Parts: sequence; C-alpha cells; structure tokens
Amino acid sequence: MQRREFILASAAVAATTLLPQTPAWARERKVRLGMIGTGMRGQVLLKELLRRDDVEVVALCDIEPIMLKRGMDMAAKAGKSAPKAYGQDGDVHAYRRLLSQRGLDGVIIATPWEWHAPMAIEAMQAKVAVGCEVVAGITLQDHWDVLNTQLRTGTPYMLLENVCYRRDVMAALQMVRAGLFGELVHLQGGYQHDLRAVKFNSGDSAQPYGSGVEFGAKGWSEARWRTEHSVERNGELYPSHGIGPCAMYTGINRGNRFTHINSFASKARGLHEYTVAKSGGTSHPSTQVKFRLGDIVTTTLACENGETILLQHDTSLPRPYSLGFRVQGTHGLWMDLNQSIHIEGRSPPHKWEPFQGYQDEFDHPLWKKYEKDAAGAGHGGMDYFVIHAFVEAVKAEAPMPIDIFDAVTWSALTPLSEQSIAEGFKTLEFPDFTKGLWQSRKPIFAFDAKY
Ligand SMILES: NC(=O)c1ccc[n+]([C@@H]2O[C@H](COP(=O)([O-])OP(=O)(O)OC[C@H]3O[C@@H](n4cnc5c(N)ncnc54)[C@H](O)[C@@H]3O)[C@@H](O)[C@H]2O)c1
Repeated sequence: MQRREFILASAAVAATTLLPQTPAWARERKVRLGMIGTGMRGQVLLKELLRRDDVEVVALCDIEPIMLKRGMDMAAKAGKSAPKAYGQDGDVHAYRRLLSQRGLDGVIIATPWEWHAPMAIEAMQAKVAVGCEVVAGITLQDHWDVLNTQLRTGTPYMLLENVCYRRDVMAALQMVRAGLFGELVHLQGGYQHDLRAVKFNSGDSAQPYGSGVEFGAKGWSEARWRTEHSVERNGELYPSHGIGPCAMYTGINRGNRFTHINSFASKARGLHEYTVAKSGGTSHPSTQVKFRLGDIVTTTLACENGETILLQHDTSLPRPYSLGFRVQGTHGLWMDLNQSIHIEGRSPPHKWEPFQGYQDEFDHPLWKKYEKDAAGAGHGGMDYFVIHAFVEAVKAEAPMPIDIFDAVTWSALTPLSEQSIAEGFKTLEFPDFTKGLWQSRKPIFAFDAKY
C-alpha cells in the first residue's frame, strides 16, 4: 500500500486517534484546492484560502457567471495564478469536470444545501478531500450515503462548522474540561437569526439583502434557493451552529450519543407578514405563498449519559442575532445571550457575573496562538480557524477535526425533526451512525489540534 492510500484508508476508522501535531514533512507542503460555489459564503472562505501561503486555489466552479467572476477577480486581486474556471455554461454538473482536474488535493463545497450530498459523494469517490459547508444532506438517506461513501473510500471529509471555533464557545469548552460547571446536565443552543432580508430580495446582484420580496428564480443568492426550504419544509433546518458546540461539550460520538429527538413547530406568520409589509399590500405573488416552516421550531434531544439539549430555529421573526447557548451543570451555568456566568462557590450567591474574565482565564490555546492571523477573518475570526483546521488536516493527511460522524449526526437532526413534526411531534429514536463505535472513541475534537 502507498503511504497516502494507507493513511486515507485508516482515516476512516482513525477518528479514535489523537490529532497529531502537523508533521515536519507536511509543514512545508502546499495543497491544491478547488471550490464549488463561489457565492456569498464561498467568497468569504475563498478570502481565507487566498491569504494563505500553503494553499493554491487551482479551480473554481459556479453556474452563476457573476459569482464565478467575483471569485476569479478575488484570485487575481490577491496576485495568485488564475484558477481554472468551471460552470460558465450554466451546466449544473460542471463540478464533475473540476473534480477530475489533475492534482486536486481537496475541494470546498459552498453551494445550496441540496447539492452538498451529491457533490461530496462524487468528490470522495474521486479521492478529493471534502470541506463541506453546513449541512451534510437533505434526507436521512443522504446522510447514510455520505457516511457510507466516506467509510468506503476513506477520503477525508470535514463539515465546515465554524461556530465550534468561536472564541467564547472554545473558552466554554475549556471550562467544561476543567470541571467548572461540574457534571453537565442541560445545554441549549440554536440558530436565532432574522433571515427575512436574506430570504427575499429584488434579484439585483448588487443588493443581496432586503431589497425586495422576490425569491426562487427571480431572487439572488440565498433568496434563490434557501427560501424554498421555508415553503416546503417544517423542521430544524439549520442545526449545526447550535448543536456542534453542544455535541462537543457533551462528547457526542465519543463516549456519549443522542438517543432520542423530538421537535415542535409554532405557527408560521413572520415571512408572510414581512412580504406584505415590504411590498405594501397583498398583490405581489410572494404574499400569496403558504410557508410551511414554523417561525420557532423547538427541538429536544436526550443523550445516553443523561443530558438534555434544547435547540431553537428562529429565522422568520424580527430579533437580534443570538445562538442562545447555555451550558449548565451541577456547579453552575454559562449563557451567551448576556455573556453571563454563575459558578457556585466562585460567583456571589444567586448573582450573574460577566463572562469576560472567565473567557480571558480559559481562552483556548488555539485562539491565543492564532489571534493575530484570525483578525479580520469572517464571523469574528472563526472562519479563519475552520479553514485553517481543514487545510492543516489535508496537508498532514490527518483525520479531520470535525469528521464524518460529527457531520452526519449533527446534520441529520433536520430530517429527524421534520419527521417528528410530521408525525405529530413524536419522539423518535436517534440513529447511531457510529454503529457502536461511540463507546470507544476518545473525547478528542477540533480543539485539540496542535496546529
Ligand atoms: N457557516 C456559515 O457561517 C455560513 C454562512 C453562510 C452560508 N453558509 C452556507 O454556505 C452555503 C452557500 O451559501 P451562500 O450564502 O454562499 O449562498 P449563495 O446562493 O450566495 O451561493 C451559492 C452558490 O452556489 C452556486 N451553485 C448552485 N448550484 C450550483 C452547481 N450545481 N454547481 C456550481 N455552483 C452552483 C450558486 O450559483 C451560488 O453562487 C450554504 O450551504 C449555506 O448554508 C454557511
């Protein structure tokens, strides 16, 4: 067996091994990456790739010429050699030509959700390492297919879940490990982000947010595809930003697992009201659309080790952004909404303390090390870390820090929550994607990478 083949094959089961420090032979290595989907998110990730010396962006693919050109222009402006461009002809399968480009080490997938599973599967079959934007697939079967392809091919796969790298989220992880909260009992998180101005616009590429009430073919960027999911589906549609950190804190797939799930959905009012108010009446076709997605979808998970986790998806009503984290154990709790913490024996009795002092004390070593590099990167720096982790793992041919089991477990919450709601808010058993491996896998995550 070639060295590379051996490492790739073992990567499928090597999720139980410790992430190594980048070995000397990999440190000088450059990786050749492609990107499928150079839309609004793709461009943020592309910026991170282009400012690295250890990455050559050799291929870009997008079926929307304006987005593709933006990506190509970014590469030119960064003074890099021109990547090969695919998709100008509008061929939705142009990415297949990208995947067959010689010498490609990996690909970033930043396309609409429905494309993630087929593109990732074909990339893994082509032995091209995958960094996939959230989510991993649409249906439960998609998640099994992505998982089985990864296990069969051994091609590395990472879900690019950036919130796991947020500074306060990582500091809270250090606190969990230091036992500050005692034994964990209950956690909360979610995706609480007013997306009304993202789900609708005028279709003008210069005004992607809130410029009108068009969606679908007449919309631009996410309004072109994401809104349709609010029309057709009712469930926890965007789980990983909330569940990723909670799963890391509780060691899901590494000594713990989700056993049960149920979801409740409220009535759907926000998107309709928004289109009526924005268009000034009920004559625009968007105001006649019936949205299935409940304005607030509340999902509860039970864990093997006795914790409960509550997630809320809240994207159609006016509200400031908050992921609503709460980490609570036998000794105290942290809530991110007002950045407050209470630790018994350390905080004044029955009083909140500001989180900042704790964040400084428990700042994660990765943040201390790379704070300067992360400055200016998307989402307060966390986009630097998620790209960094992917690139370093590809370079070192090491297991991915957020791996295939994490990806499918976190992302499969969506079809399971849809099923629960459709079956009258039924409590369902959560599938064990690890087939029992969760019992022996070590509690090691992204955050332990020494990179
Ligand atoms: N992690 C985060 O913080 C974060 C933030 C925003 C978006 N996202 C995710 O990133 C992904 C992309 O979102 P976005 O905001 O960039 O949307 P977008 O609509 O701006 O970009 C998607 C791009 O994919 C292209 N595309 C569609 N089908 C294609 C195909 N078959 N082949 C090639 N290109 C194709 C579109 O033309 C578009 O340019 C989504 O999965 C979204 O959930 C993640």
